[in-house]
Amino acid sequence: MTEHDDAVSPLTLTEKAALTSGADFWHTKPIERAGIPGIMLTDGPHGLRKQAEGGDHLGLGNSVPATCFPPAVGLGSSWDVELVGRVGEALGVETAIENVGVLLGPGVNIKRSPLCGRNFEYLSEDPIVAGVLGAAYVRGVQSKGVGTSLKHFAANNQETDRMRASSDIDPRPLREIYLRGFQRVVEDAQPWTVMCSYNRINGVYASEDPWLLTQVLRDEWGFEGLVVSDWGAVNERVAALAAGLDLEMPSSDGRTDAEIVAAIESGALSEDYLDIAAGRVVGLVRKVQAGAGTITGPLDVEAHHALAREAAGRSIVLLRNEGGVLPLATDTAVAVIGAFAETPRYQGAGSSLINPTRLDTALEEIRAVATAEVVYAPGFGLAAEVAEDETARLRAEAVQAASDAEVAVVFLGLPARLESEGYDRDDIDLPAEQLALLDAVLRVQPNTVVVLSNGGVVALPFADRVPAILEGWLLGQAGGGATADVLYGRVNPSAKLTETIPVRLSDTPAYLDFPGEFSHVRYGEGLFVGYRWYDARGLEVAFPFGHGLSYTSFAYGEASASVAASGDVEVRVTVSNTGAAAGREIVQVYTSLPGSAVQRPVRELKAFASVELQAGESRDVVLTVRRADLAYWDIRIDGWVVEGGTYTVDVAASSRDIRSTTSVEVAGDAIVVPLDRNSSLGEVIAHPIAGPIVQQALASVAESMGGLSDIMPEGVSMEKMMYSFPIGRLSMLAGEAMGPEAVDQLLAAANAPQS
Ligand code: BGC
Repeated sequence: MTEHDDAVSPLTLTEKAALTSGADFWHTKPIERAGIPGIMLTDGPHGLRKQAEGGDHLGLGNSVPATCFPPAVGLGSSWDVELVGRVGEALGVETAIENVGVLLGPGVNIKRSPLCGRNFEYLSEDPIVAGVLGAAYVRGVQSKGVGTSLKHFAANNQETDRMRASSDIDPRPLREIYLRGFQRVVEDAQPWTVMCSYNRINGVYASEDPWLLTQVLRDEWGFEGLVVSDWGAVNERVAALAAGLDLEMPSSDGRTDAEIVAAIESGALSEDYLDIAAGRVVGLVRKVQAGAGTITGPLDVEAHHALAREAAGRSIVLLRNEGGVLPLATDTAVAVIGAFAETPRYQGAGSSLINPTRLDTALEEIRAVATAEVVYAPGFGLAAEVAEDETARLRAEAVQAASDAEVAVVFLGLPARLESEGYDRDDIDLPAEQLALLDAVLRVQPNTVVVLSNGGVVALPFADRVPAILEGWLLGQAGGGATADVLYGRVNPSAKLTETIPVRLSDTPAYLDFPGEFSHVRYGEGLFVGYRWYDARGLEVAFPFGHGLSYTSFAYGEASASVAASGDVEVRVTVSNTGAAAGREIVQVYTSLPGSAVQRPVRELKAFASVELQAGESRDVVLTVRRADLAYWDIRIDGWVVEGGTYTVDVAASSRDIRSTTSVEVAGDAIVVPLDRNSSLGEVIAHPIAGPIVQQALASVAESMGGLSDIMPEGVSMEKMMYSFPIGRLSMLAGEAMGPEAVDQLLAAANAPQS
């Protein structure tokens, strides 16, 4: 029962059922006679998409102007908890000013394949990055008295067939990769709501999965808020309610409320489930009411635009900078080439599409900084069909501009139609005409800088032929200004990749298992998602996870690691800015456990910090690896286990740029796996109680088993040969000493509760 029983108990069955589904596309239903108002929930995540009064009934177009901050693909690349928190606060302010109760974000799904059409809305291929930054976002927004919705829970990693596909995942990757980020956000930040996803997980709809919505989310993680469906994700309302889905959105026009009432009246559903769900809706409404009215407009458009510019500057990854082409001097004669310089691609399509308060273009912002003439040539057309002679004309004009200038800055990227919510991409290539344009420019102008605009990763076949590359992702409404800031060194780039840029699509982990068939997608790569895959396979990548350059340089001292009283591992390292400019370094900590009893990636990210350093400054940085983050999911006991041993701790500038390695001894969790007749001899020998007993028994019959040694290769011990032999069948070799009675006694002793 919930703390809102008092509010719920006077309500009729029909009223309670009414509370658990939407009034329309964006509001919950009020129960006026009980003093329960309706509240508004709306998108999210990187800005407020509030449909203006009188908009269409599907809640799509015509939203009120709001600041479009960098979408998750950009903001996540900052790896900056403080910055993400500040953007969250600004989003909270805009949400509060518009009297919206819940902002639908953040999205923390793992980028399993670069083909996912919605990767721009997600933070990373790594659950620690997604979880830590997702929690910072939630804390920021909720500090303003409005709620968030952690989405899309869970394992929603593609758009193809998204409303039915079953993500078929083994327990370890499900827990260690796909749920870990959600768990982090729930445990650290308690989002007011969690949004269940459309898809199924191992055959069960997320919206009606009691294991997911109740056992894992509430019983294990301690979630205290409300579970809302993704818009239209409810398959069977009654089953969903019993599973823990509190609020169905949008409205079902009363149809599913009636189903709930009928199920309770027929005795098919206990009313307790409805009381709990209705109580949680009232709980959410009360929280929204408590926050309402404290922040009022008007919105400080300028201040939020400035924050959007700061955030965008911290989202741009300097992938490459050979020969110091960047930063540009203001008096350099620059040719700006590429239609995205004038028509920015700054956010993704679908439910997160923001109507921005302002929109910078890189071209205007470059012109505002440069003191020399800036020539512009679009170079290519953005329409789906551009006539051949027009393409040739645009290219020739751009080549001329490039050859007349000292530096060509070429804006390439994905046109909006190539990536969106609702469908996946077919490939990771930039459009052919853009690649051809770049080749033509490079033939006349070696000093070429490429600036990319793309929500999902693109292949960079030109990477070693272009001296400087900025990965601009999607940067929000102030991306143009931020791009100029980075090009001219007003902002020293500090972002790093939260996803690997592969050489080719066929190298990617999910290549053979994406997007599945007949509504099933097998996560065959298991734990080996993102860098975990490329490292385990020793594959070359274009740019590794965690990579990003700066206009200054950083040196790392020798790292040390120790276990604190809390059980967490503290990693210490001195980082120095050895260059001439102030800058920021994202320090990363990866761990591994050589000789582990379970399969493990080569290294896994466990902690990170964004450290600001003046030129010449050094700082001692302490990073905390939580003990819980060292755990793997043990399928024998269906629980987390920290394996004891000497962990390798890599302190790194990227997943492939390890600067200092140390190690730390970690005590393991004491777990005793129950033994049965099918437990192997090896497992029994390793058991603290059964081990000594069985070894003694075996010693006593060693002679009778001596014949075995005749058939074994020389130098191989009997244990090795017998390791996987089930203990219950050992009498075949060991006779009475390991006969059925002896085995039963052994098992009873092993499994007896220990005091
Ligand atoms: C999306 C959600 C979004 C909701 C409301 C759904 O189609 O998957 O992310 O919050 O619509 O617009």
